[in-house]
Amino acid sequence: MASLTVRQLDDTLKKLLRLRAARHGRSMEDEVRVILREAAAETGHGAADRFTPAASSKHKAATTDEDGPRILLIIGGGIAAYKSLDLIRRLQERGARLRCILTAAAQHFVTPLAVGALTGERAFLDLFDPQSEFDVGHIRLARDADLIVVAPATADLLAKMAGGHADDLATAVLLATDRPILIAPAMNSRMWAAKATARNLAQLTADGVRVVGPNAGEMAERGEAGLGRMAEPLEIAATAESILRRGAALAGKRIIVTSGPTHEPIDPVRYIANRSSGKQGHAIAAAAAAAGAAVVLVSGPVNLPDPPGVAVVKVETAQQMLEAVDAALPADAAIFAAAVADWRSESESASKIKKQPGRTPTLKLTENPDILSSVAHRTSGRPRLVVGFAAETDDVVANAQAKRMKKGCDWIVANDVSAESGVMGGDTNTVHLVTASGAESWPPQGKDQVARTLVERIAVALDGDKR
Ligand code: C5P
Repeated sequence: MASLTVRQLDDTLKKLLRLRAARHGRSMEDEVRVILREAAAETGHGAADRFTPAASSKHKAATTDEDGPRILLIIGGGIAAYKSLDLIRRLQERGARLRCILTAAAQHFVTPLAVGALTGERAFLDLFDPQSEFDVGHIRLARDADLIVVAPATADLLAKMAGGHADDLATAVLLATDRPILIAPAMNSRMWAAKATARNLAQLTADGVRVVGPNAGEMAERGEAGLGRMAEPLEIAATAESILRRGAALAGKRIIVTSGPTHEPIDPVRYIANRSSGKQGHAIAAAAAAAGAAVVLVSGPVNLPDPPGVAVVKVETAQQMLEAVDAALPADAAIFAAAVADWRSESESASKIKKQPGRTPTLKLTENPDILSSVAHRTSGRPRLVVGFAAETDDVVANAQAKRMKKGCDWIVANDVSAESGVMGGDTNTVHLVTASGAESWPPQGKDQVARTLVERIAVALDGDKR
């Protein structure tokens, strides 16, 4: 079959294609694929519904699948790199399309020729290679993947990732990507046990990077054994597959999340608020978007970046939050993680209330709307699954169960915010999932992990519509 590259198109077509691709946030190559697919669909030969990683994650005896998930494999420089050639095959067996980056150190262990022969595409080596920057470029390498796998992930690569370095192609791509990253660490057991490596790994997992291995066993160094062997290619491929399958668990679903505090003005400089960093709500929005949902995040004032791929509506007060949630409906599920102020000042002073010696002003408060309760009690347009949060210090589960009934929601995620739990403003959370059928206590874990687990549960509930 004749081949055509984007470079061979005339300038006008190239310009139109570039504009269309930019508008859709796709690479030019992917835009061409979409155009061809649309044309095929119009003539009845379409396969437009076979474009998600989930649809293509089935095992196949054949090698790559035209519509299969795209995996970017970054091969680091360690003796385990020889296993990465096998990993390419194991991923291809699952229908994945592979591109590979070899770090400079990796090229001491495997050759670009071997990698190119296995993937059917040349290996990417250099950040400053004008040819590959023109053809693909590091930003496109970062974007044109459903998953990035780093195997072997050496101690040095982990340190660079944790520190946000971008001084070669592999690290620049890893810094530029918003796609899930799976690392398979491999190093000498003493390097694995080093405090610096533990610190870097803790940082990476907090950043949402997934880890497979390392395993215990013999080291490359004769006579040495311990923890540090790269996970086997089959284990890495299975983990990659499960991430990709999970990646689309909420495809086609619409989810609303509230997050952060609300600020209820007293005068132009003072306000009433609850303590809330917004970390848990934002993590849930990010996890739902990563799982393929269309997410609207209605957020009060927080010091957090907008999660990638999420439509963020920024509000100040509870009333504005309610309006924004109403405007975002309908939705399949709504998760209310915001710490909404229960009361607001009955009247907001237009000018700053002056401090007068001996005179303390009295605030007259009025109740704010209960956003969770109002959505949960809707008779029409109620999301199929309504989830509330409850911050409790005593009798956490019993209070949460009572709150679930009172608010009319399906689930309550109850968190223990007693001073000793360290939840407030921290990165970990100890929660209990309270449903009509009882309570489940989850072990203390990062807020990102709580978000991922909750999103998995939501996907199951929406799938089977069982609560
Ligand atoms: O009543 P309480 O504030 O403990 O309830 C907590 C749950 O209710 C959270 O899910 C919170 O987001 C939600 N809520 C709300 N609107 C309010 C108060 C709480 O949506 N005004």
